[in-house]
Amino acid sequence: MQRSAATRRWRRSAMAAMVFAAFTTVLGGPARAVDAPLIIGGEKAAPGEFPWQVALLDATVSNTYRAQYCGGALIAPDWVVTAAHCVVDGRTISAPGEVDILVGTTSLASGGTRVDVDRVVVHGRYNPRTDENDIALLRLSEPVGVATLPVLTRADEARLSAAGTLATATGWGNTSIRGEDFPVDLRKVRLPLVTNRVCNGPRAYAGAVRPKMLCAGFAAGGKDTCQGDSGGPLVVPDGDGGFVLAGITSWGAACAAPNKYGVYTRVARFATWIDKVLATPRRGSPTRVSTAAHATAP
Ligand code: ARG
Repeated sequence: MQRSAATRRWRRSAMAAMVFAAFTTVLGGPARAVDAPLIIGGEKAAPGEFPWQVALLDATVSNTYRAQYCGGALIAPDWVVTAAHCVVDGRTISAPGEVDILVGTTSLASGGTRVDVDRVVVHGRYNPRTDENDIALLRLSEPVGVATLPVLTRADEARLSAAGTLATATGWGNTSIRGEDFPVDLRKVRLPLVTNRVCNGPRAYAGAVRPKMLCAGFAAGGKDTCQGDSGGPLVVPDGDGGFVLAGITSWGAACAAPNKYGVYTRVARFATWIDKVLATPRRGSPTRVSTAAHATAP
């Protein structure tokens, strides 16, 4: 599991202060005054607005707020899609017992249900070095009764996720570009999709964005996902008043910095893989299917 959120939330600042000091030294001045304390530059989500949103919790931590370390989305009553990097640490894949799923609340302080995971499936070609195929599926020990999010299909990809489409990212991730300020309530931010060409521009990621990744954000920065939002959904309108899952929060340089768009797993390219995993029978299947063929220590 990606270092426990507990650690992240407790250890506020020595590190952040050092990083900030280094950052300001390099830039020769204080960080830009994009003082958007609000995910970055977003706003609070209304209860029930994103019913498929779940939080990944460190099962060893009882306090929900401190246990949260990643996001995820319910794509079936008993399946959550998240980022592989949320359940892989070096060569080790989280055991189902190490992760709990918080369902049915926008608040990490109250409400919702903590559900056990009984199977962790990481994409067999997840590459922690390049962040390619950053996708994993978690099966819940029992189905939950909340609305699920449809996955964008390859057939609808061009129509529903073209550059310029206004997508929405949600999560309980860091809201501060300078330090750490993790919210209790779920936040949302609207971000335009950008082409991989723009995202690979010289001042952007210069080639690090691979075809099965999707970028969203503003050249000017100011709005973005951030640490703790990983694994959570980036949704686009389905053209019929609803949303479909287009991306999974994966990586970015800093948060909300100019030209450093957020990079998401391009879910439509994994629709077939998802269907295949979800079609496996519940009984008689192994507890863990782990094929981190490329997993190497960072
Ligand atoms: N990797 C981060 C996490 O584990 C999410 C990064 C998203 N960063 C960004 N600038 N959009 O939570």
